[in-house]
Amino acid sequence: MSTPAPASPKSGSTSMRYFFVWAIGLVLGIIATVMIGNAWRARQDPLPKAIMTVQKFHMTALKHNLEQNRCAATDTIPHLQTLRRTADDLESAFPELAKDDRFVKHASDFRKVLDASLASPPMSCEGVKQTIAMVGDQCKACHDDFNK
Ligand code: HEC
Repeated sequence: MSTPAPASPKSGSTSMRYFFVWAIGLVLGIIATVMIGNAWRARQDPLPKAIMTVQKFHMTALKHNLEQNRCAATDTIPHLQTLRRTADDLESAFPELAKDDRFVKHASDFRKVLDASLASPPMSCEGVKQTIAMVGDQCKACHDDFNK
């Protein structure tokens, strides 16, 4: 008569192994969740879109002025000023793109055109039309390269 063999120590170590695999899975899961959360928040930075929305708003306002024959310097200058001020923030709003020289060049050219328009603001609707075209070309130049 043989007594049943005592539970082999092997089965104990197997359950320990499962526990460790589970624990490692849990830790990796937590780390992955934190990383995905961080990446998501980085994507959600509202500043880039906010700046662009403001730019669009003032370009549209200038176009409406033109349609309504409101082309006095006092109608135009405030919009150009806001475009110019917000243009200062392009590099800080797009820190990744600002590592690219072409982006910095587009931003500088954009500011240069706005500076020139502010230095001799358009006084007629024909002038406002030209200013909108010149500024719009700068929006487009940067978008062609960076707003894919
Ligand atoms: C130096 C580069 C640069 C200039 C200049 C520029 N933009 Fe942009 N714009 C971008 C980039 C980059 C994006 C993509 C932003 C994103 O999706 O995060 C963008 C996106 C936009 C969008 C879409 C925003 C959205 O909600 O997805 C609008 C509208 C816009 N720009 C308007 C303008 C207007 C109007 C001007 C000129 C008055 C202008 N931009 C000048 C770089 C520029």
